[in-house]
Order: sequence, then C-alpha cells, then structure tokens
Amino acid sequence: MTTSNAEHGLMQVGDEVRVVPDNLEATEAWNGPLFDVWMEFREILTGGVRGHGERALALEPPREGDRVLDIGCGLGDTTVGLAQLVGPSGHAHGVDVAERMIHTAITEATETGILNVSFATCDVESARFADTFDYAFSRMGTMFFARPVTALRNVREALTPGGRLTMVVWRRKLDNEFLHHAERVVAEHLDEPEEYDAPRCGPGPFSMANADTVTDVLTAAGYENIRLARVDLPYKIGNDLEQAVAMNMAIGPAAEILRLWGNRAADLKPRIQADLRTALADYVTSEGAVFASSSTWTVTATAQR
Ligand SMILES: C[S@@+](CC[C@H](N)C(=O)[O-])C[C@H]1O[C@@H](n2cnc3c(N)ncnc32)[C@H](O)[C@@H]1O
Repeated sequence: MTTSNAEHGLMQVGDEVRVVPDNLEATEAWNGPLFDVWMEFREILTGGVRGHGERALALEPPREGDRVLDIGCGLGDTTVGLAQLVGPSGHAHGVDVAERMIHTAITEATETGILNVSFATCDVESARFADTFDYAFSRMGTMFFARPVTALRNVREALTPGGRLTMVVWRRKLDNEFLHHAERVVAEHLDEPEEYDAPRCGPGPFSMANADTVTDVLTAAGYENIRLARVDLPYKIGNDLEQAVAMNMAIGPAAEILRLWGNRAADLKPRIQADLRTALADYVTSEGAVFASSSTWTVTATAQR
C-alpha cells in the first residue's frame, strides 16, 4: 500500500497495492488514460462537481474532531477540504486505487502545509482499514467498483457503529445532459465494440443512478437510515464550444466508446466532432461558456450499530 502523511512531510511508495481481479481493468484506466484526461480537464471536471460536493457537505457535514475517510478521493481536493472542516483535532484520510492520483494528491496536500491529512493507494473493494472513522465521504468515487456491496461493506466495517456515510453520485442520464447529449451523438455513429484494447473505467458514472439499487446496495452492505436527496445544478462543460467538444471526446460515456474503438474509429472522429459541435452549440451562453444540466443524489446513511 502506498501511504503518506503530510505530518511526515514525505511520501512512501511501499508494498504492492492489492487490487481485486475484477477491478484491474478499471484501475488501469484510472491510473492511465483517465488520469491524463483528469489532469488536462481538471478545472472543468472539478468545477462541475464542486457544487454537488458542497451541497452534500452542507446537508450532512462532518463534525469538528471527526476522523474522516474520503473514498475514491482522486486528486485529493475534497480530502484537504474535509481536513479543514474537521479541524486540527480531526483527520482526513483519502484513498484511491490510482497511484498517480494519490501521488499528485500527496504533493499538492503537502504544499498546503495542512497536517491533518493523509492518503493511501488502495482498492476499497479489497481494503481492510487499519483505522476507524466517524464519517466517510465520497464525491463520485463509489460508482466504479465491480462489487459495490463488498467495497461499501469494507467502508462500513471501518466506520464506528452509527458512523455516517455521505456520498455524491450521478442521477439518471436524462438529467445529466452535460455527458448524455454527447453519448447520444456518438451512438448515432458507433455502438460499443465487442472487442477492444483500451481499458474500461468500471461499471461507470451512472451505476448508482437508480435510487432503489443504491438503497439495496447500502442495505446489503450493512447501512441503515438511508436517504437520497436530489441536487440539480448547471455544469460548465467548457469555457467555449471547442473545449466542451474536446471534454466530451475525452471523458464520459461518449469518450469511453471512442477510446474502446481506438484507431479503428479514427476516420469517424472528424464527423463525430462536427456533430458534437452542432449539438453542444445549443448550450452556449451569451458569454460563450457552455453549460448543461447535471443532477446528483446526495446519499446519506449510517453504519448499523
Ligand atoms: C470520478 S473520479 C472522482 C475523484 C474525486 N473524488 C473527485 O471528486 O474529484 C473517481 C475516482 O474513483 C477512483 N476509484 C475507482 N475505483 C476505485 C476502487 N476500486 N478503489 C478506490 N478508488 C477507486 C478512481 O481512481 C478515481 O480517482
């Protein structure tokens, strides 16, 4: 496991990360092409989810002094934010399966000088957490496990009895035009290939969109008091139309189909790009930026006592 603690001011790349076989492909995606895309479109991607995360934290904030786990923390901006919310008597620990995400998170958190934060590379589905937590949080980090019940049970076992879980997940595609419109455009040209070389990202961003499914997953994983609150916010897909097209061709369900086809779809790309430009033009505002709908569930639950 790769661990770091800003308290020690250094990063240790230690034992191998134990990833369950079913998550190997998704790990390859998140640690490879998706990490690169995440860095390239960071401002847009983080900006688009920031409001959803803030709404969730306003609804169910951690308490001062809480020990917090941030699941699928990515580049760690939420982990640092959580560390600030719980204050110096608390602690925030971010975990992610992509080592490159964690490396960047550690570097950036160290630069902030905040001491009550730490990170580890781990597959939450195989994790046995050494510490216990009062509060677990995730912004879009729980939709990619091959077996969500197992992963969320591991989180529940690390929570104190009655400890709280707050996670932000995308609702149904129809209310998330910032990704879904592009998916429809690409689908006019390409279905998913039966054979592919590029790694898939796992079950995908909409795998927890169904309220009943999420409730069943959490119940099976040992949670109670499960509630879902809908949050709708405009999502800025690009500072201009070109960036919006590039973003949709780089990440999300439309991009995943293109990635899976690889070079075999190279001839189609200019036409898809042109169609996306036409489709996304509807979302351009008078200032030139591109906004479309986005919608999440803030899911809250407590670990069974
Ligand atoms: C959509 S990103 C969200 C990142 C971050 N929470 C944010 O809001 O910016 C999903 C994250 O989940 C991580 N992830 C996927 N599968 C995981 C697993 N099995 N265990 C831990 N993290 C995982 C990915 O590496 C990725 O960083």
